[in-house]
Amino acid sequence: MQEPAAVLRQWIAESGNIVFFGGAGVSTESGIPDFRSVDGLYRQTWSHPPEVMLSHTFFETHTEEFFDFYRRKLLFPDARPNAAHLRLAELEREGRLRAVVTQNIDGLHQQAGSRNVLELHGSVHRAYCAACGRAHPASAINAGTGVPRCACGGVIRPDVVLYEEALDDDTVERAVRAIEAAEVLLVAGTSLAVFPAAGLLNYYRGRRLALINLSETAYDHQADLVIHEKIGEVMKQV
Ligand code: OAD
Repeated sequence: MQEPAAVLRQWIAESGNIVFFGGAGVSTESGIPDFRSVDGLYRQTWSHPPEVMLSHTFFETHTEEFFDFYRRKLLFPDARPNAAHLRLAELEREGRLRAVVTQNIDGLHQQAGSRNVLELHGSVHRAYCAACGRAHPASAINAGTGVPRCACGGVIRPDVVLYEEALDDDTVERAVRAIEAAEVLLVAGTSLAVFPAAGLLNYYRGRRLALINLSETAYDHQADLVIHEKIGEVMKQV
């Protein structure tokens, strides 16, 4: 029997229509902790559970605390793309990979050179006024302190999807179309515990679903290939 990485290498070599679907585990090798691992953000102690602190209600009612948490825990200005981000960008340039669908908000795929990146949960690199909708540079939040304000008096918020908020329709639709049409679907670095994002996998119709994740997921039985290793290490071999 072939090694799992060799199978994946072959699938990748044979395909011109690969789609990648990833989560926080893709960026841990860049020094950004994930959410649900032992040392992840959700295992740390806070005044409120992180799901609460990252909710729309918390943003509205505890705005200053929201920004304090956001700046301290979700911004990683020194993080750089790792081997996984770089190989995916290369696969796109080679004409093999059609889209990166990510739950991450760190922008590392774009920094690595990926172009068709569908950011289901938004990005820390964009900001807008919650009152008038005007776009602002992310530095209005990221480089400042306290509650950032627009000229209209509204709060400048990050363009990230908070709990209780809907995903962007257009981004979801493009992700669904890419996944539906994919020949090879690479899923990596995600616990697949957060919906609706995780549910997008159900649109895949092919027979080459590879799941690369350090820990088991509820979708392991649905995958055609499961690799419980670090995504960066795997992508160096394929
Ligand atoms: P999780 O923290 O839930 O899952 C990350 C998964 O990556 C875990 O199962 C780890 O075992 C695995 N992992 C960690 N490092 C890895 C590596 N180097 N190689 C392979 N696997 C690795 O993160 P997500 O599934 O992305 O949403 O979480 C989904 C959403 O929950 C996030 O987008 C965020 C959070 O609440 C919002 O903020 C809206």
